[in-house]
Amino acid sequence: MTDREPGISFSDVTTEELRQKRGAKWGSADSDILASWVADMDFQVASEIKKVLSVSLSRDDLGYADQKNARQLAELFAVRYDLRHGLKIDPDLVLLTSDVVQAMAVCIYAFTEKGDKVVFFTPTYPPFFNVVMDLSRQVVAFDLVKGAGGYSIDFDRFEKTVAAERPKVLLLCNPHNPTGKVFTEDELAFLAEISLKYSIKVISDEIHCDLVFEGHKHIPIATVNKDLEKNTVTLSSASKTFNIAGLHCAQAAFGSKDLLDAFRNFPSILLGEVNSLGIEAAIAAYAEGASWLDAVMQILDTNRHMVEEWALQFPEAGFVTPEGTYLAWIDLRFLHFGTDLAEAVKDRAKLLLSDGRAFGKSGAGHVRVNFATSKTILEEILERLRVFITDNCDKTQDT
Ligand SMILES: Cc1ncc(COP(=O)(O)O)c(C=O)c1O
Repeated sequence: MTDREPGISFSDVTTEELRQKRGAKWGSADSDILASWVADMDFQVASEIKKVLSVSLSRDDLGYADQKNARQLAELFAVRYDLRHGLKIDPDLVLLTSDVVQAMAVCIYAFTEKGDKVVFFTPTYPPFFNVVMDLSRQVVAFDLVKGAGGYSIDFDRFEKTVAAERPKVLLLCNPHNPTGKVFTEDELAFLAEISLKYSIKVISDEIHCDLVFEGHKHIPIATVNKDLEKNTVTLSSASKTFNIAGLHCAQAAFGSKDLLDAFRNFPSILLGEVNSLGIEAAIAAYAEGASWLDAVMQILDTNRHMVEEWALQFPEAGFVTPEGTYLAWIDLRFLHFGTDLAEAVKDRAKLLLSDGRAFGKSGAGHVRVNFATSKTILEEILERLRVFITDNCDKTQDT
């Protein structure tokens, strides 16, 4: 791929270039398929990140990470999170892990016993189910309500569910994958109150924290209530924001020493080490990536409005414009398609989208589109999906 300047030509990326990549997103797509599934962006990585990676390579500097680099990242992460999102993090209470999902799994393992319950909002990022079930804990899946104003929480029903099920952990995804919802201060204050009332620890996956559009604000749940903060682990990473997920380096910020000590019940040897290149890349991203991110956010904003306009032709879908993330959650229940919706989209429209069913029962009949791509590719993705919907709408009406 040619080296382009950020902000100028992100939208020039072509499918020919993308198909040369060996990553999961395009690597698993046949030559006639457009890949719009896994949450990687099609944009080039920030030149500041490429530079530090090239320096490491030019020095053959691929050995174990130096602890002082890990500390530098923890400090930078803490300063930046405070500046951007208003959460004061103690760098002594930050752990680096290979990825956010790993941190989530270890927190659940450390904070709960087998058979304990973990509550989260559905539809949800699919590994939420895995981390709970693979550890022999129980899922309490609580559906968000879709309404004219977007996705919301039925407060009464949520409290009743919590009172009946008594989960030990709330696994929050904010901003929310797949709906793109950014939880409001009132919602977070409510969740904090319920968590304190029922002695629930909070694991807040805020990996999409920087990908929030104008008019909305990412609020870390740990900021809404001082007492709750002590029982909250805030998870984040440069991986989504800066498109470097393969470098595996996430940050877990514990709200109190007691909570970190509880986490350390888990034998740390099982955690493994963090990728040394991931640390270098995250430092460059956090320290120098702001203008790249601003440029990307402009493109993502344009793209989300493209999807929004496209969706106007299908009012039955009741499209909810994402407030954050680069994911569009498309409700195709009006097609009354069977269980193989995403498979059919792939076979007939040559589009690889995420299958809504993986996001929980309420995801059936939905697909998730990744709109972090060039205008040309996004237009083609939406056109293929339009044709698929139109063909299958007609069929539904015929029968
Ligand atoms: C909400 C959410 N959490 C976590 C992850 C994965 O993060 P990691 O690769 O650090 O485990 C993703 C990836 O798309 C995500 O959307």
